[in-house]
Amino acid sequence: MSRVALVTGGMGGLGEAICIKLAALGYKVVTTYSPGNKTWKEWLDSMNKMGFGFRAYPCDVANFDSAKACVEQIAKEVGPVDVLVNNAGITRDMTFKKMDKVNWDAVMSTNLDSTFNMTKQVCDGMLDRGWGRIINISSVNGQKGAFGQTNYSAAKAGMHGFTKALALEVARKGVTVNTISPGYIGTKMVMAIPSDVLDSKIIPQIPMGRLGKPEEVAGLVAYLSSDEAAFLTGANIAINGGQHMH
Ligand code: CAA
Ligand code: NAP
Repeated sequence: MSRVALVTGGMGGLGEAICIKLAALGYKVVTTYSPGNKTWKEWLDSMNKMGFGFRAYPCDVANFDSAKACVEQIAKEVGPVDVLVNNAGITRDMTFKKMDKVNWDAVMSTNLDSTFNMTKQVCDGMLDRGWGRIINISSVNGQKGAFGQTNYSAAKAGMHGFTKALALEVARKGVTVNTISPGYIGTKMVMAIPSDVLDSKIIPQIPMGRLGKPEEVAGLVAYLSSDEAAFLTGANIAINGGQHMH
């Protein structure tokens, strides 16, 4: 029977590529969309016209009760989740001088609390079944810091602390927990950066001289989701065109 993969934020730039890759490998792919998302049905219909067979459920990953209700419905209608990709995330970039509590909290809850909110719903089942994959999509900016991102860098660095601690707790039960830290990938999150800043401050810092492609990150997610990756846990894998090495 095919495994169930849940990708949060699968209608975004990275998430869509991850959903497509996992479906191509035979996973039953389920994704989430924000409760306020007005275009989810069109996205789903257009994907399924191409034969992917995705399912989609509303979920505010920043809200524990919403995450719980969403995963309960998935368990009932599709099955228990074997692979969780904590991918949904937002930026609210501003210098620390301008950073207010609302934008701090929004980024912390959507990028970091979400990791707890979603993982909590699936982890016990993975342990009971003796197999599971939890993949947290962090960022190069959680590893190195970024101008205008005290909130985002803190949340993304926090994700990897979570990864390492949980990886220790579940290692003997067939469940792996890993972080992927992408560099700048050409999605709408990056296209929202003022173009002069992107061209003059960011691209020149990438030795490969280009943005990454969502498909490049999706390939790594596919590997971490596989049986072959069973001995790989607690890692933070950088995929950033050489922008940051550690
Ligand atoms: N490095 C160094 N200096 C920077 C900088 C950077 N990345 N970004 C901006 N600055 C400088 C500007 O050049 C400017 O300098 P001067 O005063 O000498 O001209 C100064 O900071 C103020 O910049 P702005 O006029 O743009 O000020 P602002 O308050 O309007 O905006 C900002 C500040 C929100 C940080 C804006 O510049 C910005 O959005 N920068 C990009 C931030 C960024 O890289 N975000 C990553 C988003 S993608 C992502 O997060 C995905 C991922 O995980 C990789
Ligand atoms: P994106 O295109 O903006 O997609 C973000 C996705 O997150 C959307 O599908 C959005 O769903 C979902 N989302 C946001 N808030 C949510 C909430 N409260 N509840 C449920 N879903 C929510 O961004 P992306 O570039 O694909 O980024 C995906 C992940 O990769 C993020 O965690 C990001 O931080 C990380 N990342 C991106 C880059 C990059 O360069 N692009 C680099 C490193 C890391 P709706 O549209 O339905 O709201």
